[in-house]
Amino acid sequence: MSSRMICAGCGWTAPPLDPRPFRCPHAGRDDVDHVLARRLESASPVPFFETETNPFLRYRTFTHAWHTAQAIGMSDGEFVDLVRALDAHAGGIVVTPFEQRDGFWVKDETGNVAGSHKSRHLMGLMLWLLVAERIDPSLAHARLAIASCGNAALAAATLAHAAKRELDVYVPGDASPSVIARLETLGANVTRCMREPGVAGDPAYLRFREAVARGALPFTCQGNENGLVIEGGQTLGWELASQLAARGAALDHLFIQVGGGALASATIAALEEAQALGVLPRMPRIHAVQTLASPLRRAYDRVLEHGIDEAIAHRSRFMWPWETAPHSIATGILDDETYDWAAVLRGVLSTGGSVITVSEDELREANRIAGDDVSATGSAGLAGALSMRCGDESVGVLFTGASVTAPLSVTPTTAS
Ligand SMILES: Cc1ncc(COP(=O)(O)O)c(C=O)c1O
Ligand SMILES: [Zn+2]
Repeated sequence: MSSRMICAGCGWTAPPLDPRPFRCPHAGRDDVDHVLARRLESASPVPFFETETNPFLRYRTFTHAWHTAQAIGMSDGEFVDLVRALDAHAGGIVVTPFEQRDGFWVKDETGNVAGSHKSRHLMGLMLWLLVAERIDPSLAHARLAIASCGNAALAAATLAHAAKRELDVYVPGDASPSVIARLETLGANVTRCMREPGVAGDPAYLRFREAVARGALPFTCQGNENGLVIEGGQTLGWELASQLAARGAALDHLFIQVGGGALASATIAALEEAQALGVLPRMPRIHAVQTLASPLRRAYDRVLEHGIDEAIAHRSRFMWPWETAPHSIATGILDDETYDWAAVLRGVLSTGGSVITVSEDELREANRIAGDDVSATGSAGLAGALSMRCGDESVGVLFTGASVTAPLSVTPTTAS
């Protein structure tokens, strides 16, 4: 098989046809940062120049799911049918717009399924599960679990509903009632999790971990919990590379808002693959953008001093939960920890980029410029771009989420 899942921390490789290549078996046993990443032996640049509008069809040969499907004897046509059937129920994922606005190159995800780029991560993961259950039929009946109260949960509920799978969503105690109502309309089982005095870390995340330990499948947008979520997110970066190539354009800088880090990790991996295939002439400088509560900035400052290899070998000295509950209008990037920090910092360092923090005023101003359709989280990367003087260099940003939750694209589950 020419696709493998390899741990970026210790080099462990999942056996071919492993139906659960989600997490390194050594994770949690030592202080190494263990995260599985998909590695392709070979690939063709042809998909970048095709006209297919569904990214999961267009870039299917880049996915671990497609390679595994081939290895177990599924035909390409059968895989295509699987993608089309899931997509028909999920509401239709299509290549999103990429255009110049106000002097910036903007990749606009606000019209994506469930109103954000998160559906990409979870579409990729659901396609994996549909293939993997042919290897291990018990996967078809396992519950799915996610910790989130925002776009990731909405995307997870949309995809779980589309595939008729049971989903448990762990949300913080202060989660918005309208989001909870929406999740329940989509058939998700929602559990509120309160912060406990003296216990650091996101309580919803801790409950999610317990559920996974009991056998639930991590249907999440965090690469450390499930390395396969990154790949679906890579469709965004592959599209970006293809859209730049079609315009004969290149980016000098790309600003990416970072919460858990999966978006930035996926975008960096996708652009690196596009560059390796000769589609992208050079990598843009990657700038990771967080609010003033920034575990990634804290890790970055330490990494500049000690080096990334030292950091990956001693995770707890570089990344730990932010001590106080953070507040910001950019609610989607307030994760206590940057779970995919190592992959993001590697990309920042190798491209000569940076980690930037932005104030609430800067977030508000960026959101005003981005317009009513974009959420404050969705325009947080623009806040980073505005705070840095890039002169006449070409700058890209990602408008990752819509301000109002997109209309339901699937038929709600009726209570029975
Ligand atoms: C709209 C939007 N943009 C960006 C992010 C950040 O993505 P990540 O958590 O993968 O860093 C989120 C996460 O919730 C989001 O909802
Ligand atoms: Zn490992």
